[in-house]
Amino acid sequence: MPAVGYEVDGEIAVLTIDYPPVNALSLAVREGLEAGLSQARDDAAVRAVIMVGGGKTFIAGADITEFGTEKGNSGPSIAKLEGILEHFPKPTIAAIHGTALGGGLELALAAHVRVAVAAARVGLPEVNLGILPGAGGTQRLPRLTGVEAAVDIMTTGRHVPAADALALGILDEIVAELRPGAVAFARQVIAEGAKFQPVIERNEKLRGVDPAVFAGLRKSVAKKARGKIAPMTIIDCVEAACGMDATAGLRFEREKFHSLYANDQRPALMYYFFAEREARKVPGLTAEPKKIKSAAVIGAGTMGGGIAMVLANAGIAATIVDINDEALAKGMATVRKNYEISVSRGSTSQAKMDAALGLITTATDYADIAQCDIVIEAVFEKMELKRSIFAKLDAVMKPGAILATNTSSLNVDMIAAATARPQDVIGVHFFSPANVMKLQENIRGEKSSDQTIATVMALGKELGKNVVLARNCDGFIGNRMLQYYTGEAEFLLEQGATPEQVDRVAEAFGMPMGPFTMRDMSGMDVSVLVREERRKTLPPGERLSPVLERLVQRGRKGQKTGKGYYRYEGREKSIDPETTEVIEEVAREYGIERRSFTDAEIEARLFAPLVVEGAKELEDGTAIRASDIDVAWVNGYGFPAHKGGPMYWGERYGLDKICELAFEAEARNGPRWAPGPLLQRLAAQGKGWKDA
Ligand code: CAA
Repeated sequence: MPAVGYEVDGEIAVLTIDYPPVNALSLAVREGLEAGLSQARDDAAVRAVIMVGGGKTFIAGADITEFGTEKGNSGPSIAKLEGILEHFPKPTIAAIHGTALGGGLELALAAHVRVAVAAARVGLPEVNLGILPGAGGTQRLPRLTGVEAAVDIMTTGRHVPAADALALGILDEIVAELRPGAVAFARQVIAEGAKFQPVIERNEKLRGVDPAVFAGLRKSVAKKARGKIAPMTIIDCVEAACGMDATAGLRFEREKFHSLYANDQRPALMYYFFAEREARKVPGLTAEPKKIKSAAVIGAGTMGGGIAMVLANAGIAATIVDINDEALAKGMATVRKNYEISVSRGSTSQAKMDAALGLITTATDYADIAQCDIVIEAVFEKMELKRSIFAKLDAVMKPGAILATNTSSLNVDMIAAATARPQDVIGVHFFSPANVMKLQENIRGEKSSDQTIATVMALGKELGKNVVLARNCDGFIGNRMLQYYTGEAEFLLEQGATPEQVDRVAEAFGMPMGPFTMRDMSGMDVSVLVREERRKTLPPGERLSPVLERLVQRGRKGQKTGKGYYRYEGREKSIDPETTEVIEEVAREYGIERRSFTDAEIEARLFAPLVVEGAKELEDGTAIRASDIDVAWVNGYGFPAHKGGPMYWGERYGLDKICELAFEAEARNGPRWAPGPLLQRLAAQGKGWKDA
């Protein structure tokens, strides 16, 4: 089967791109398109050309697997094909279904006309790979949509639904059926003898743009970019489109593309793109997932409500169960409020909110959920409570229903042991707020069946989450590592760093907020409770810094009490001398000498412990691959994707240096901080995670 099929339908040549899985613009596709266009030009009977995708989608972009390879650099470039399309002597029509992304949309923007089915989406997501739409996208898109919409689309990488794309001028028409609609459109164009001005020559929307618009865009985009350079470079290119002629603008875009391509953020983000996809795959797992049509959520708290929203958003009917109507009414009010906020922000529509709310029901009786395909328990982190719930579920749920727990730290096997069907029990850990955070950490119990695992992995994808699979252990993949990050942050305070300095370094690194600001926000008393448990299992010779507990004893519980590590006046935070006093008091008590730290030292001390613990997770099988750990940390904890994730970062930082830091931490903090045998071996041999 050729990558691009050629057939003639009346007076219309139809070029069908057939290159699974996503019709990426690989060498074969680019060559096929060039040949097809040439044939259509030479065929006197052909009066218009349609480009359409075979299978489930239009073109999803350049072929990322060919980047930087000989294939990638051979054959006609996307820009060359665009030149051919744009100046083609007969009308060219892109007929879009599925997604037209990246180079795929850029190619479509060079066609004379774009039609799409209503379910199609278009976008320029290159920013997620650390690059920019380098095949003319930054120059053509603003010519259709105007500057602000183009910057929004390209700096977020979002997929724009067809109806919005039509309103923005990206599409010319929505057709009911893909090929017949495109053919009818082409016939009309032929009949009318319509002439089209190439997009690159349309300058109306670029004229007279106030420079203040760019200043405003830079300010708002910089806030969200958190150190990513591609979004800012995209704005430079759009500004160039306004200030230069088309040829100079395209040249400017090319130069900027190459400079981004050469930056370290690009390989990190490309690694990360494939890491997310790899994480969905479980070696050796061949079981067919069960279809989930209905679900129940136990617990109407913030977490339970959020999980119900996630399910309903994906079209799955969800029943929330709690002990009484009052708890359910309170939970539903929060769910409703969350949807209303989304509608007011424009991130969802009233129709979608109504449809989702229509799928959420409530119940106080477990008998009402007995026929659900899955039940997700989301109550307090108390083992006995969870075990009693699972015993009840075991008694009522239909055979084969998946019994999932949303625990963030408890032993999944102990929960499963409360039932007579441990093969159906599994951990499905969402992050708070569940309807926003993209991670779904699935935790396989000792006895979880392959089909149970396959089902929750597939469910995660359906829910739009990034999934990873962990083995049952204390804290699983993510939280097990988190305690070392926050733990070292606290030790740094005792040794002389300030909360503000540590937070500043973490944020400059790309974390959404530093560890102390995070604690102040989530409530320090909550952390104290978690640590009370942890203290019970600490090995001899190991301690936790008592600064947190001392602050809480003084009534400093975080933002909610107006003071935590910081003092708060409204949203403004400032350093509080009382915090410094407590830190100094602890340092004196433990005989710790205080000194100043460089930012680089703090950065290494904060992030190296993640790598050390991550290596132990690989060693004991908690995580399947290093890249799964990266997926968990990027999606669950906001680790910057442009640094690839902690394991990718650690390998580039140097596993030998990480190992050294771990030995120092062991000497300072206790035995749990020592590097494991795997890390020591890789460090000594100068090897990386692929050799683990
Ligand atoms: N090149 C090569 N392979 C790609 C690809 C691409 N552009 N996009 C997706 N794939 C591969 C995936 O790696 C995956 O492979 P495996 O099955 O081996 O894991 C397979 O296609 C299916 O992808 P998904 O699992 O992601 O499938 P999905 O149905 O969930 O999503 C999608 C489909 C929306 C197209 C999604 O894959 C996606 O967003 N792809 C990336 C699109 C993109 O970034 N395009 C821009 C490319 S850069 C560019 O075009 C540069 C330029 O300006 C010239």
